[in-house]
Amino acid sequence: MIRCPRGTRDFLPDEMERRRHYENVLRTVAGTFGFREIATPIFEEASLFVIKSGPNILDEIYAFKDKGDRDLALRPELTAPVVRMFVNGMSNEPRPLKLFYFGQCFRYERPQSGRYREFFQFGAEMIGNANAETDAEAIALAVSMIKALGLRKYKIRIGHIGILRNMLAEANVPQDGMQEILQKLDKKMYDEAGSLLRSAGVCDDSVKRIFETAGTTGGKEVLDKITDDAAAYMKEVMEILEAMNVTDAEIDLGVVRGLDYYTGMVFEAEAPSLGAEKQICGGGSYSLSELFGGEKVFSTGFAIGFDRILLAMEKEGQTFRNKGVDAYVVPVSDDVRLEAVKIASMLRSRGIVTDIDIMRRKMAKAMKHAASAGARYAVIIGKSELEENSVTVRNMETGDQRMIRLDELFGLFL
Ligand code: HAM
Repeated sequence: MIRCPRGTRDFLPDEMERRRHYENVLRTVAGTFGFREIATPIFEEASLFVIKSGPNILDEIYAFKDKGDRDLALRPELTAPVVRMFVNGMSNEPRPLKLFYFGQCFRYERPQSGRYREFFQFGAEMIGNANAETDAEAIALAVSMIKALGLRKYKIRIGHIGILRNMLAEANVPQDGMQEILQKLDKKMYDEAGSLLRSAGVCDDSVKRIFETAGTTGGKEVLDKITDDAAAYMKEVMEILEAMNVTDAEIDLGVVRGLDYYTGMVFEAEAPSLGAEKQICGGGSYSLSELFGGEKVFSTGFAIGFDRILLAMEKEGQTFRNKGVDAYVVPVSDDVRLEAVKIASMLRSRGIVTDIDIMRRKMAKAMKHAASAGARYAVIIGKSELEENSVTVRNMETGDQRMIRLDELFGLFL
């Protein structure tokens, strides 16, 4: 038996209805913040992802050659594609550009709960305006989305990658060694980070100060201890967030992020209920456009891991009720089939979600099927009722059954 590839999933109708519902919740929230939806190709030139991250990224993504010998890759994320799209044809648009997207991404990862090889991101990017309002707007949008989905337990941590980078530069850590140290600090692996720092020639005092900064967490007042300009900037971001009524985000200067393109504010959201794969959203400000042949332009954004956030909602016990059909039409005998089809068509033409027994089932079986389809009403078409321009309707929840004139039938569904 052929199954779907490792790390991918099929979505059955109930699940798909749930996903579409929550996708649209996110679309609505993004719209209220003035963001507009875009779409980019599922595959791109592989170089789009290699330029910033280096060729090692090819081991982590689905890269391949097409029949024309082009090096392509399934997108592992959408920030680089969106910036490419900006450079290709949107760079003259009024700034800031406020764009959002929903789509699948592919990473060659070891699959586990909440970690897939094909997964979906709902993300937003703002391009072209460098100030604290822009960063605050990105964070506020992410928080509003998480809230709109109804997730109760989550944590938002905000940092600034420039603060640790500046400290590492002052301690003479070479540029190409920084990312590895930052990754260890992000994971709170201080022993490993310490060894790397010492082998880069950093003295014990500086190591201690770097650890202290990476361990700085709390309200905006913790930024007062830091002399870097970035700390003052982050304080402004936090004040704007407060004005936007986002009060549940906290500072964590150890937030580093996994991708290489971040330059300033960085943030992450996690859902503790998810265990190991608890990060449900990540983002920050970055610089990519100049690498793709465009001007250097301030950009900031984030992506919500759609599959993970839905998992977290489930873990919190949030349930989703599938709509089911409004009317399930059941012809009682063969000689009323055509009339039944006509009535079903009439209901459908009025926008009433209608299904009809096309399996020629016997009455009892048809009713059972109507129940399992989640029908609100069964509309039973019998010959004697039709002679009186009527049908029988059964409320599938209460079991109440009554005769109703055809011209009153539509009113039942208003
Ligand atoms: P990221 O942190 O790599 O950032 O991914 C964003 C989110 O996608 C993660 O927080 C996580 O919830 C979800 N995610 C990542 N990998 C997987 C996976 N294998 N299975 C399921 N979910 C996953 C980015 O992709 C950046 N482009 C975000 C961004 C936008 N930064 C600026 N703008």
